[in-house]
Amino acid sequence: MIAAPRLPARVAMAQAVHSEIIVEGLAATGYAVVADAFAPEAIAALRERSFSLDARGEFVAAGIGRGTARAARSDIRGDRIRWLDRMEAAREEAVVWRTLDALRNALNGSLMLGVWSFEGHYALYAPGAFYARHRDVFRDDDARVVSCVLYLNERWHAAEGGALRLHVGEGKCVDVLPQGGTLVTFLAERFEHEVLAATRPRLALTGWFRRREREPHAVARRG
Ligand code: OGA
Ligand code: MN
Repeated sequence: MIAAPRLPARVAMAQAVHSEIIVEGLAATGYAVVADAFAPEAIAALRERSFSLDARGEFVAAGIGRGTARAARSDIRGDRIRWLDRMEAAREEAVVWRTLDALRNALNGSLMLGVWSFEGHYALYAPGAFYARHRDVFRDDDARVVSCVLYLNERWHAAEGGALRLHVGEGKCVDVLPQGGTLVTFLAERFEHEVLAATRPRLALTGWFRRREREPHAVARRG
């Protein structure tokens, strides 16, 4: 029998600490920002991975809405995306899935969020592209519980724009620069947010922890 590869203690420990900080942030304010959530080498490898996917033509214009209402609207959302597929995860993506597993366990164990799956994509904004103020839950589908954004950009400067602007209430907002290694998490239902235009390409890995979808039949039977 082959033993399952174990995580180096240092990596496992860092994941536990980050999960704890995120759980505390979500409980206290509804959001958390962790700088250097991943090693610079891991971020560089993910950046390279996304560039090679882009070179292969695997990114598509992002849409808004769901199902038949789905439409490309660059006046609202100007990024191009490539969905992640865990079954076909590249070597450099393994650390992301492992970290997300640890975080999901912490979210369920400490906050009872009942999240089961994760859907996510790379998102690439060309200079000038933006995502207007929005919420991450759809009108007809509230399965998204926690939004996560991991930035993959090298040495980002404030003057380059591209901040994530979280509207945290009472006219207040929090701006987060898309600095490589920074991981932002927030309660998907709670916050409107927007992506400001940048002067250089802006790369992120974005996704959502989801609760189990309600059975359509169960809803219909209720009436
Ligand atoms: C999104 C989003 C934020 C960011 O893709 O829904 O809000 O900072 N992204 O990229
Ligand atoms: Mn969003």
